[in-house]
Amino acid sequence: MNALADINQKTFSLDFSVEENSSVARFIKKQYPLFDQYPHLVYVDNAATSQKPRSVLDAEQGLYTRACANVHRAIYNLGEAATGLYEESRKTLAHFIGAAPEECVFTRGTTEAINLLAHSFGETLSAGDEIILTEMEHHANLVPWQQLALRRGIKLKFIPITDEGLLNLEALHQLIGKRTRLIAMTMVSNVLGTRNPVETVITLAHEAGIPVLLDAAQAIPAEPLNVRSLDPDFLAFSGHKMYGPFGIGLLYGKRKWLEMIPPFMGGGDMISEVRLEGFTPNEIPYKFEAGTPPVAQAVGIAEAARWLEGLGHEDLGRYESELAQLLINEIKDIPGIRILGSQPGAPQGRRAGIVALTMEGVHAHDLAAYLDRYGITVRAGHHCAHPLAQRLGVVSSARVSFGAYNTLEEVHYIADMLHKARKEL
Ligand code: ALA
Repeated sequence: MNALADINQKTFSLDFSVEENSSVARFIKKQYPLFDQYPHLVYVDNAATSQKPRSVLDAEQGLYTRACANVHRAIYNLGEAATGLYEESRKTLAHFIGAAPEECVFTRGTTEAINLLAHSFGETLSAGDEIILTEMEHHANLVPWQQLALRRGIKLKFIPITDEGLLNLEALHQLIGKRTRLIAMTMVSNVLGTRNPVETVITLAHEAGIPVLLDAAQAIPAEPLNVRSLDPDFLAFSGHKMYGPFGIGLLYGKRKWLEMIPPFMGGGDMISEVRLEGFTPNEIPYKFEAGTPPVAQAVGIAEAARWLEGLGHEDLGRYESELAQLLINEIKDIPGIRILGSQPGAPQGRRAGIVALTMEGVHAHDLAAYLDRYGITVRAGHHCAHPLAQRLGVVSSARVSFGAYNTLEEVHYIADMLHKARKEL
């Protein structure tokens, strides 16, 4: 460890060298109880899930130890305390993305948020209507639309990608038609790391009167998002990839859309009145939150949002991208290695801190098992994006994905172990 480890700096900064930001990452790592247990673990599967800082764990536990009661139902003090914390968490998340609280629906995660939309927004569509996706979608933003297509005769169209893993935006002009009802796309590919030009897509879509859903699951841990300036109609993300708990996520929707579309699941809390013959839905956002909600997780995700804001959110994302580029530079000449997605030299911001790769003659699972022996956790497989893997002509890949606690030393170590793997496997 070099002398910079003692730097008295707790937030990432664009003004810092990568070494200085790396010393911030070392400081941040100390806030994670899991790394007390496994001090030598090189955790680089952050695109699958991130680790959780002590403040998030404490916030979640605090709900259980200080205000555990059901929300929106109890008039006793404890219940009101729980309701207050739950709604405060919604306000924190709303502020985090620049939305109004009533535009923020708590869900179990990105997948449930998109399923909600595929059902509720889907109810407003007719046979022959079209939805545009991209070739790089995670299954969570593909299968729910395929299911909708089967149920209602909707046609799905796909924005193709180039061989470098970038969206072919020229093709979008041809795809938009009179029957296009929605464009649903990822902001950042969980395999390629591509940060898509969603601003351009939203402008094009809105010129044609088409709403846009952004899957921000991979984007939000590395980039502050403001729905007022970005202007998506819907935005979905998960808590567990942004240093928050499992089992919680958010669907943002513009008020006019949330008011227009019908509820998703039925049950308690999503109604204002129920008769034997039928029901009247509650107002937004409650009409989309059937049943007892994930109260402690809501408190946890709100703390994660505060935690991210407090450490230089945007600069953290740039730092992770820098780590990815440095790793690519150190491994790109390994014989038989193929790095998926855009290469160094592509416009800045095009690749998030994600590096998926294949090694000729070595199955990605074997490579992941080999790296695990050296304490490096990489995900191997198709990464829940089968069609993308097919498009790229790979069966599976091994993926390194960086987070707030990853350091420059870890990048060198991963590169060294990949060089060693090439010799030994
Ligand atoms: N969507 C997560 C990933 O890409 C699970 O690994």
